[in-house]
Amino acid sequence: MYILGIESSCDETSIAILEFEKENNNFKVLANTVSSQIDIHKAFGGVVPEIASRQHVKNIGWVLDEALSTANVKLEDISAVAVTVGPGLVGALLVGVSFAKAIAYALDIPLVPVHHIAGHIAANYLTHPNLKPPFLALVVSGGHSHIIEVSDYTKFKILAKTRDDAVGEAFDKVARVLGLGYPGGPEVSKMAKDGQDIYKLPKTKFEENYDFSFSGVKTAVLNIANKEKDNLRKADMCRSFENNVAEVLVDHTIAIAKEKGIKQIALAGGVSANTRLREELQTKGKENNIDIYLPEMKYCTDNAAMITAAGIFKFREGNYTKDLSLNAKASMNIENE
Ligand code: KG4
Ligand code: ZN
Repeated sequence: MYILGIESSCDETSIAILEFEKENNNFKVLANTVSSQIDIHKAFGGVVPEIASRQHVKNIGWVLDEALSTANVKLEDISAVAVTVGPGLVGALLVGVSFAKAIAYALDIPLVPVHHIAGHIAANYLTHPNLKPPFLALVVSGGHSHIIEVSDYTKFKILAKTRDDAVGEAFDKVARVLGLGYPGGPEVSKMAKDGQDIYKLPKTKFEENYDFSFSGVKTAVLNIANKEKDNLRKADMCRSFENNVAEVLVDHTIAIAKEKGIKQIALAGGVSANTRLREELQTKGKENNIDIYLPEMKYCTDNAAMITAAGIFKFREGNYTKDLSLNAKASMNIENE
């Protein structure tokens, strides 16, 4: 059977079609069309929610046509529609949710509501069909920095989270302070390649748990930039910042894995595209005898293939609806999935 999935939580309009074989639980990506709005938001130095919603409305029709034509599948052959219902920009989410409801109503097929982060985690199953729960997921994106225990395909427990900025947000802010473009993560990472780790930046640790805090390191970058002005060594600052956050993220995750005796860690979310973080996790994984799973680059940032994969896990458990009152939610706890 064919399952269609929709992602519109931020600045990517994406529709995917996956073929799902119920008998053996296998699935295959037939199409994963992504229309990015990055070039439009770049001019504003960040995502403008109202513009994002309008762009989703403008693009979602042709994104569907292209996905169907790439997959060589007719709309009437789709058996269920998965859609990101949250968390994210509510106006942007509503475009995808309304579109999904229209398809479900027209074809009289089930709707599968998907948590965006469950989608990011599922990106790992697309890349590594051999990966099976239980494992730990280090989820790092523009809105999240979570360490999540994935005890089953649809069962999640948050073991640590950021108390202030998400790490992707910190990358974006550091890029802005240094006068680099948006989104900041890839720009900081590019610059860091020519830099040395010379700036001493703080690492925050809490006694009671492995929560993160990235506002201290972000403020330290800002203060040094203000003090050094034209003498600031931008490439060195990017390298120092990238090392700092990669080490903190990986240290906390490995510590939890060791305490809980978990032998597999998967990386997820937009910041998982960061090469330094990928290397740090692989190195520390090897040292501690823990298997590390990294999503392919095309599944790191927002895309509908990962949302559809997460939707398939809920669909096969019978966890779906035909209720057209389904709504988008700006915030949503993954533990209540
Ligand atoms: O998952 P995502 O596409 O959207 C959200 O769900 O938030 O993540 C976007 C975030 C942005 O903050 C962006 O700067 C960051 O991921 N990002 C990176 C890299 N590529 C994207 N951060 C560090 N290094 C990268 N290569
Ligand atoms: Zn995302």
